[in-house]
Amino acid sequence: MSARIRLDPATVVGPVRRRTFGSFVEHLGRCVYTGIYEPDHPSATPEGFRGDVLDLVRELGVTLVRYPGGNFVSGYRWRDGVGPVAERPARLDLAWHSLEPNLVGVDELMAWARHAGVEVNMAVNLGTAGVLDAVDLLDYCNTREGTDNAARRRAHGAAEPYGIRLWCLGNEMDGPWQIGHTTARDYGRLANRTAAAMRMVDPDLELVACGSSGHEMPTFGEWERTVLDEAWPNVDLVSMHAYYSQREPMTLQEYLVCADGMAAFIDDMVDVVDGVAAARHSDKVVGLAFDEWNVWYMHRAESQPPTGDDWPVAPRLLEDRYSVADAVVVGDLLGTLLRRTDRVWSANLAQLVNVIAPIMTEPGGAAWRQTTFHPFALTARHAAGDVVRAEVDGPEVTGPDGATAAVTATATWADATGEGAVFLVNRSVPATVPITLEPPPGAHLVEAVTMHHDDPGFQVLGPADEDVVVPRPNPTATDGDGAIRLEVPPVSWSMVRLAR
Ligand code: AHR
Repeated sequence: MSARIRLDPATVVGPVRRRTFGSFVEHLGRCVYTGIYEPDHPSATPEGFRGDVLDLVRELGVTLVRYPGGNFVSGYRWRDGVGPVAERPARLDLAWHSLEPNLVGVDELMAWARHAGVEVNMAVNLGTAGVLDAVDLLDYCNTREGTDNAARRRAHGAAEPYGIRLWCLGNEMDGPWQIGHTTARDYGRLANRTAAAMRMVDPDLELVACGSSGHEMPTFGEWERTVLDEAWPNVDLVSMHAYYSQREPMTLQEYLVCADGMAAFIDDMVDVVDGVAAARHSDKVVGLAFDEWNVWYMHRAESQPPTGDDWPVAPRLLEDRYSVADAVVVGDLLGTLLRRTDRVWSANLAQLVNVIAPIMTEPGGAAWRQTTFHPFALTARHAAGDVVRAEVDGPEVTGPDGATAAVTATATWADATGEGAVFLVNRSVPATVPITLEPPPGAHLVEAVTMHHDDPGFQVLGPADEDVVVPRPNPTATDGDGAIRLEVPPVSWSMVRLAR
């Protein structure tokens, strides 16, 4: 049971795109309120942002943040969230059965993003609003001066336009749960009209049409074909969403290989999108925006919104606690996205704080890292240059669809600096796997770290446990005779760094 991995920097899959390391801030639960924003917190900035969270966001290496939803966006009136805070209305958030106080809106989020050093990927409401509302928001954000919307933004303190490039045309419009859910044909027409109007403001925007909110959606494939049929000239990317979890009667072994499902989803989406191009005799290449992905135990009580007369502000919702196995899965999913960097042009770990998130907070208290924080942070920090081919010849395990690789490897190589990284996942429940890694000629080992715990179900439940399971130097790693050797324990995530 050993694996041989050959790194081939000459076979480039595509560039490491910084937008692969995106995340997501939705007005949902405590992601915004007591997540990124808590004016009374001891670490708060003058604008009311949690400074401890900002530090962790920077450490996580997030590059892009999608905002303001999610399901929330389909009922959102963006004008409620701008202007003097005391005059902003509270509204029912129908998506999450909560009360939205509108203390944070576009201007606050853009100020927060500037502090965090992230690009913003704005979503427009195509559930209950439409073309004019989207154009007004674009005008508000990106017009320098001279329009009423730009004048308002300037009056609200932002003299410079925000210059937002990447825009989502609604959210999950294929989902019956979505406010304003509609047919593919109607959504495709609306997305096309909205995109065409937004392009009249700025032809260079990058526009994302809603694809399927899951591979398992009965409309998958037909939905995209119809939407693209309507909106082809005006759309640059199609969105994909996928959440994974270990759900009875799934075994841990079956869960650990769930990234195979993500790879299959991407393959199928590429086929669908390219099929539309072929049928239209079009050379255009439409990219994939995997703008929601993560582990989410959505059937647990944590994810059930309030009901009845209870419309709380920022309730505890979707506050999943992640295990070591979940972190290994997150690392594998991120590697899967990188290995399809040829077509996945942006991706967003959903979400950033408190809501199925790598960062957790207590109101008035600490902010801390979940297990899933680490593979994301190290990959975002060390993946650079190009994604290159890493050929794995190794053992197999049994997944839900039969035999599949026990070990996955994702490799990046930066010619400019002569540095590389290999992200290794041992998806086997029982087996430690000895690895022989053939580096590019002249490259040597810089460091090898591994994240593992004897109990794959171990969860970091708060700041006190934060250091119990983190990536640590792998003591088995050696370098010599043209090979790097190390052992990767069962259910583990590792990073091997190389340099010439
Ligand atoms: O990320 C949580 C929710 O999952 C989002 O609001 C929605 O788009 C998806 O169903």
